Amino acid sequence: MVPLLTRRDFLKISAAGIAAAALPVPSVLGEPRKTGSFTWAGINDLHIKNRDCLPYISRVVAALNDNPAVSGVVVLGDLATMAQPEELRLAKEALKPLNKPCYILPGNHDIGPETEGALKRFNDIIGPEHWLLEWEHWTFLGFNSCVGAKSDVILPESEINWLRDQLISIDSERPLALFCHHPLNPHSKAYRIINGDEILDLFSHHALRLVSSGHWHGNQEESTAQHLFTTTACCSSTRDNFDKTAAKGYRLFHFGEDRADTEFVEVR
Ligand SMILES: [Fe+2]
Ligand SMILES: [Fe+2]
Repeated sequence: MVPLLTRRDFLKISAAGIAAAALPVPSVLGEPRKTGSFTWAGINDLHIKNRDCLPYISRVVAALNDNPAVSGVVVLGDLATMAQPEELRLAKEALKPLNKPCYILPGNHDIGPETEGALKRFNDIIGPEHWLLEWEHWTFLGFNSCVGAKSDVILPESEINWLRDQLISIDSERPLALFCHHPLNPHSKAYRIINGDEILDLFSHHALRLVSSGHWHGNQEESTAQHLFTTTACCSSTRDNFDKTAAKGYRLFHFGEDRADTEFVEVR
């Protein structure tokens, strides 16, 4: 099991110059805030092919670094295009200037089509493929929704069991944000995880509030009584959005006492 990281743990890890579950090490960190709201950002579907793709990612990283409200960043998969090691290394290089904690998940374009060892190159270069952390009074849980390079997936029992294992240690009253690559939005225009309801049912005794994904390149926000679901436009100079919209960029998540709000920010 990936150890649960608290913000205090992250500060210790960063001070030691080791980022076990995060890229890169932040250069400036203040004292943990005790209460109140905070903001993270999310990007997805970078689809890096070669060095020509890096200037756009650099502009996004600069925008995130320049936004003092952003405490950390999640990257929700498809950093690469053909799951090539060089693409993943370029993605790592492009994200390195980020001066905030950064937690990354694989997308179907980051892992090989082979059934054995498909995740190895992602885990070797970026990794790990799933993680759990506490940030202020929230819990963030990121899981690997990929099944080979498939677009339409049934989450396998092994990853469902990993989620079950994590939930044992999560306080049921802490608000929880769930991240993965493939959408869980109940009315996603496409690519919803086929056993998505089974996944959401795992959280029926926890305070799940936010579920955010990539893969469907487009902005979708859907609220239910308890949950906010999102997908986000791609953060890519090589791919288009599926809904024909032109705007690319990142998503902000504003975490409050027990709810999360969101907004999309375009980066040209
Ligand atoms: Fe994608
Ligand atoms: Fe994808």
